[in-house]
Amino acid sequence: MIYGDEYKAWLCYPKFSLETDEDKQNFEDWLRFIKNIKIKGKEPLNSNIMKSFKQRLSKIFSYNEININFIDSKTYNDNENNIKGWEVEEEAFSIEAYKDEYLIDISSYKGLINALFKILTTAASSSSIKSLIGKHTPKNAIRMLNHWDNIDGNIERGYAGKSIFFRNGELIFKENDLKRIEDYAKLIASAGYNAIAINNVNVHKKETELILPKNFARLSSIANIFRKWGIHLFLSINYAAQMELGEIDTADPLNERVKQWWSDKAADLWKKIPDFGGFLVKADSEGRPGPFTYGRNQADGANMLAQAVEPHDGLILWRCFVYNCQQDWRDRSTDRAKAAYDYFKPLDGQFKENVLLQIKNGPMDFQVREPVSPLFSALKHTNVLFEAQITQEYTGQQRHLCGLLPMWKEILDFKTGANKEESPIKEIACGKVFNRNIGGMTAVANIGDDKNWTGHLLAQSNLFGYGQLCWNPNLSTEEILSKWIKLTFGVNKKIEKTILSMLEKSWEIYESYTAPLGVGWMVKPDVHYGPDVDGYEYSRWGTYHFADRNGIGVDRTVATGTGYTSQYCNPWNSIYENIETCPDNLILFFHHEKWSHLLKSGKTVIQHIYDSHFTGAQKAEELLMKWESLKNILDEDRYNSVLKRLMHQVEHSKEWRDQINTYCFRKSGIKDEQNRKIYD
Ligand code: GCU
Repeated sequence: MIYGDEYKAWLCYPKFSLETDEDKQNFEDWLRFIKNIKIKGKEPLNSNIMKSFKQRLSKIFSYNEININFIDSKTYNDNENNIKGWEVEEEAFSIEAYKDEYLIDISSYKGLINALFKILTTAASSSSIKSLIGKHTPKNAIRMLNHWDNIDGNIERGYAGKSIFFRNGELIFKENDLKRIEDYAKLIASAGYNAIAINNVNVHKKETELILPKNFARLSSIANIFRKWGIHLFLSINYAAQMELGEIDTADPLNERVKQWWSDKAADLWKKIPDFGGFLVKADSEGRPGPFTYGRNQADGANMLAQAVEPHDGLILWRCFVYNCQQDWRDRSTDRAKAAYDYFKPLDGQFKENVLLQIKNGPMDFQVREPVSPLFSALKHTNVLFEAQITQEYTGQQRHLCGLLPMWKEILDFKTGANKEESPIKEIACGKVFNRNIGGMTAVANIGDDKNWTGHLLAQSNLFGYGQLCWNPNLSTEEILSKWIKLTFGVNKKIEKTILSMLEKSWEIYESYTAPLGVGWMVKPDVHYGPDVDGYEYSRWGTYHFADRNGIGVDRTVATGTGYTSQYCNPWNSIYENIETCPDNLILFFHHEKWSHLLKSGKTVIQHIYDSHFTGAQKAEELLMKWESLKNILDEDRYNSVLKRLMHQVEHSKEWRDQINTYCFRKSGIKDEQNRKIYD
């Protein structure tokens, strides 16, 4: 492969900055460190790891005399590389300073990998080595990526080329392809991830066979690569695999033959890949089979699989994206937002210890703005895994710039009010609030085989940033993004300031010219790209906005609507229920409001829609101008590739603006106070 910096992403290892006196002092400190690195712990058997670590450091500091001494004389054997247990302590490392010496303390191979990447990324972003002193423990035990890759090489909701794992109906195996997987493993390990599911949650016929021995050799080469970088491999499975494969004619989870079948399959698989992570399951959702067919509940289904993988310390990641996707739009009593809570809350406490319920951040489906899922605060005796979407399905498909960190931060910091305390989502996800033994964060990946991985180069920051949040959700958006910018483009104040302001604001901008005030879903059906206000209005998906001549929005109140607000803890149930206290940005998610309703901002709903759409499209243009100010500062390849996408965004945001404004004008008959151009 001869890809350039676009391909290297945030592992470009630029030279250490020597611009300021502080930089120079930092540089001296680093030199002292790299001349005599002491590691208290075992040495990796694979000498390439330390060799490439040294090479990177010498590149950053243009210095060759790097010495590394392991204080423990032993080495890791292969089985130790990826110890199981999902203990955050095992993955932790600490760096202590004694006078002129630094000592790195690790207790496992994973801890070593984490330490090496932390050192490299700190050095490559020209930060002080002193910032590393102390103990580094990941907040979340599971820090995972879900690939929605199909075996034919296509990626469901993928916007950056084809799969790097599958091609033409099979797992890839050629050396060059495996090399790319290894480059990916390094990228994600350095960002903070430690687990990966490589195939789509929608497991079709051919993908069902991935758990069969004929695929083990190739799966195991992929697992070997990820293991080297401290990452566990998972597969998405078909809940009714035994039926799909024609081996048993039922998928009743209480059936003994079914139980035995899964136990046998698990035993085979773990024999070949002892540190295999487990199975990710989408059951009874959007046409996928599940326990409901047999009159069983979600716990019956999950526990049957959990029992099968338990002897191997395997995990079952059971998705809560269960809802009726055959809804009749005439039926106003069913509310899709309520479904996950309604199905899973009554089962709290019934899941086995090796099951984690994987819950999407919001109750619907990764819209540009949703309230947090009330299920997080409702499950007090069940392990959970927070699920976000890095791939920009509803947020501009990596053609629009949409830096998602501010959104994730807002969600993770959201104080649910569970357990009488503040109980933010981030503390529930990791298991702390309800004293769970295991927890974590996962997300749908945004990469493909495009040379820059993510299509939109700046979308790399979302992949990096989510990993950083998995490791430490208390990091600020600015800290993460500044680091990413420096790692990717080198240290340059103008580049940093410009790209930072673009990435910090782009979510808000995208939101302002698309579906308004939390209502969501005004996209083209199926593709989910571009405006189509009524595209989902009379569909079976439970995704409506109910606009008429009087108003718009979904009444989810207890008083007059679907009653969804009651799923929240205090004080959110009443905050959302009450029009006076419901935040503006979610008002149409919770209420059906008159076009003339006065928002807390002092604007009417209709005027807000007009204003935000006009300014939104204008701000998209400002994003382009900001980027243009970097011409001749950035390398041509990366500059041009982003430029092209921003130019498209500017045009496309106008299309969004005009369709939404015209639609709302036609429905309401209310003119824009400022008399701007609205097509009638
Ligand atoms: C969305 C998405 C689907 C995906 C589903 C899921 O509905 O559009 O492509 O399969 O989420 O999360 O399972």
